[in-house]
Amino acid sequence: MTKLAIMGAMEEEIEPLLAHFTNVNVVEFANNKYYEVSHNGLDIVIAYSKIGKVFASLTATTMIEKFGCDTLLFSGVAGAINPKLKIGDLIIADKLCQHDLDITAFGHPNGFVPGGSVFVETSKELREIAIEVAKENDLKVIEGTIATGDQFVHSTERKEFIESTFKADALEMEGASVAVICDALNVPFFILRAISDSADGGADIDFDEFLKSSAVNSANYLIKIVEKL
Ligand code: ADE
Repeated sequence: MTKLAIMGAMEEEIEPLLAHFTNVNVVEFANNKYYEVSHNGLDIVIAYSKIGKVFASLTATTMIEKFGCDTLLFSGVAGAINPKLKIGDLIIADKLCQHDLDITAFGHPNGFVPGGSVFVETSKELREIAIEVAKENDLKVIEGTIATGDQFVHSTERKEFIESTFKADALEMEGASVAVICDALNVPFFILRAISDSADGGADIDFDEFLKSSAVNSANYLIKIVEKL
């Protein structure tokens, strides 16, 4: 690895990361800020994309193609589907899908377009490092499927559709688009989330209450992983 990209979607998701590093250099590009740091001999670029798949794709592509990052880590929050996941809990994606990608009218499965695949897998090597770090620090972490879509999910009906269609454990709004970009550009990537809500009625209230604390949980674990790279 020569340069590491660390992404979040929202300011709250990268704030605890930026607070950890010193001598941050800010570069503005495409209506966004990219924070360059050097840490223990490793060059790192940190940015939050803004919410949703389009902004996340732009940021991931920029970090790889403009800044030359060759490994990408994502830290942030997610809504829980798997009932084992409670607020603040950590989930590592082993694969991701787009729950709102729908050309089923033409006989294709949900989440599929020709030339693509329903699921994109994350880097096994990065996951193994993360699991080792979790064990060393006595952290409880679940590995599972994360479903992504351009919707804040706050209904049992939509949540059940995503659960039954993709067997997803958690959902959010950026991960699978980052996965598609990294997969296409041959960049190993890792998606980490901490639970902020249960993606059903009341999810908006829980999200507002737990965004910051769950983002910190995710960022603290991510920093421990970075120290191990
Ligand atoms: N990120 C965190 N909670 C979410 C939810 N309920 N829907 C979509 N993205 C989320």
